[in-house]
Amino acid sequence: MSARILDGKALAAELRAKVAAEAARIEPRLKRPPGLAVVLVGENPASVVYVRSKARATLEADMASFEHRLSADASEQELLALVARLNADPKVDGILVQLPLPPQIDSARVLAAVDPLKDVDGFHPVNAGKLATGLPALAPCTPVGCIMLAKRAHPSLAGLEAVVLGRSNIVGKPLVQLLLAENATVTIAHSKTRDLPAVCRRADVLFVAIGRPEFVRGDWIKPDATVIDVGTNRVPTPDGKGRLVGDVNFKEAVEVAGAITPSPGGVGPMTIACLLANTLRAACMRAGLPAPAI
Ligand code: GUN
Repeated sequence: MSARILDGKALAAELRAKVAAEAARIEPRLKRPPGLAVVLVGENPASVVYVRSKARATLEADMASFEHRLSADASEQELLALVARLNADPKVDGILVQLPLPPQIDSARVLAAVDPLKDVDGFHPVNAGKLATGLPALAPCTPVGCIMLAKRAHPSLAGLEAVVLGRSNIVGKPLVQLLLAENATVTIAHSKTRDLPAVCRRADVLFVAIGRPEFVRGDWIKPDATVIDVGTNRVPTPDGKGRLVGDVNFKEAVEVAGAITPSPGGVGPMTIACLLANTLRAACMRAGLPAPAI
């Protein structure tokens, strides 16, 4: 039996339409559109593509997009000065510094320099702490997108066994917090976990964010489980162009799972839609308006 496909593109389009409608509704109150600033340091090819997609999606939602590029050899001070300018700019509601940053820059210091009220990535320690303690916070976009996709298969995650494979600050750790807030029973597994296949097989909902192409095999999945694949990896092909695959072996998994996200076309589009939603949320917070109904 083939699993139900959880279509991230379609769900992201719905969310983006709601964000665009809410952005238009609050624009007269702000007397300007909500604005997102994206900072790219260097020319990491994947980052260039992401930043371009983010800027396009921002404009499509009738929000203002501010793109800032620094050269690969930019100093930490230069970047911190730019972040300080964006913190002080009233037209900017959200600031995203694209990761990874070049090695001469301490990412933690830069992320901690972003005004927590403009931290649409949810990476500032204040927002990470709020999320972990159940306070309202700007939450990281990819994990929020994962939860929205999982809820397509399970409108309530309460009591379900959720396994998160991967413990990054960007995905794994915040995802655990969001799942706890949904009353799931959560296991976080990683590269040092003993018998990963057995741990994954416990999952009613399996989230995979380990950054290794097609790492999770079909026989790691409990029959009928929901699988949310966060990975997007380019693998070589004979024609030299390469193709994108997830962290899950889709061909095998689709025969075992009850529901599964494709990659590409699953979590990726949701991340961008959630970024727009966070920008809208940040604009409302900063203007003292009620949180948007999305
Ligand atoms: N690089 C990969 N994913 C992300 C993300 O969600 N935010 C930022 N800022 N950089 C990333």
